[in-house]
Amino acid sequence: MASQLDRKVFAYGDWGYFDIWKSAIEARTGVQITPDRERALTLLLKRRMAEANCFDVEDYLNETLDDIRGAKEWSELVDHLLVKETSFFRHRASFEFVAQWVKQTVNNRDFVAPLWVWSLGCSTGEEAYSLAMTIDHSMRMMGREPNFGVIGTDISREAIFHARRGIYRKSKIVAVDESTRRDYFTQVGEQLWRVNSDLRRRVCFLTSNILTDKSPLIRRKLHLVYCQNMLVYFRRWKRRELVNQLTSHLDKKGSLVLGLGELNNWVPEGFRREAPRSVQAYSRIESIEQGDSL
Ligand SMILES: C[S@@+](CC[C@H](N)C(=O)[O-])C[C@H]1O[C@@H](n2cnc3c(N)ncnc32)[C@H](O)[C@@H]1O
Repeated sequence: MASQLDRKVFAYGDWGYFDIWKSAIEARTGVQITPDRERALTLLLKRRMAEANCFDVEDYLNETLDDIRGAKEWSELVDHLLVKETSFFRHRASFEFVAQWVKQTVNNRDFVAPLWVWSLGCSTGEEAYSLAMTIDHSMRMMGREPNFGVIGTDISREAIFHARRGIYRKSKIVAVDESTRRDYFTQVGEQLWRVNSDLRRRVCFLTSNILTDKSPLIRRKLHLVYCQNMLVYFRRWKRRELVNQLTSHLDKKGSLVLGLGELNNWVPEGFRREAPRSVQAYSRIESIEQGDSL
């Protein structure tokens, strides 16, 4: 059966069901299936079909792509397909930038608390919690009440489920420095650590697809949008379109932090790239001209 499936459906280069899958995935998630990921998609489709007890490729495709009947299977497929690799304080220089940015923003006379930050494509939550730890620490160091909220969103339901629990294996937190670990984590098992409830309460996680997002939480004006290692899976023109969409969520003094190299030779209109070059951050020109540059 499997080899028949292989020949009939998944033969590389043939226009067939496999290309329909690739187009549907890109149209629905923005994620491009590049040639190096085709084999992984083939194996996943075969595994999902076996698990769904479905051996007719056309039936599986039609059922899964049906908006209502296929919602559950589609979300399973997406959960398994997307790269969700992440870690606490993944790009150190960006978090150092955020710490400076918090001081600058909160000290600005026009600033009205709370500070709102969005971690987009947050996977299992490490990035959103790292932002919350950075902001909390910076505000306390300034002698301020930590009055802020972090919104973490991801298309993967499974990732968001883990993020909400805030429980991580020891191997995940070994890279977190000791004082941060002491301040923000509690050991809850031999190999398990949990983000403390005070911090968890400041972080709200939502399952959401950036291509169709209508969430009211994200429609508020945000002070910072942090989006790393997600756009890299999108086509270049799509990245620009999304970055324009993201900047529209920003407050008039808001900033955007992307992953290094995720946007080359292009700056969103009305924005300027911030120094240092070890981070890829943008702020509105208007706010820089008023002497707010970091
Ligand atoms: C490699 S992870 C990056 C996690 C984190 N930002 C980091 O840098 O460590 C990429 C995440 O983007 C999410 N993602 C991909 N397409 C998305 C979409 N259309 N809307 C929202 N999230 C998406 C994936 O589910 C995945 O968790």
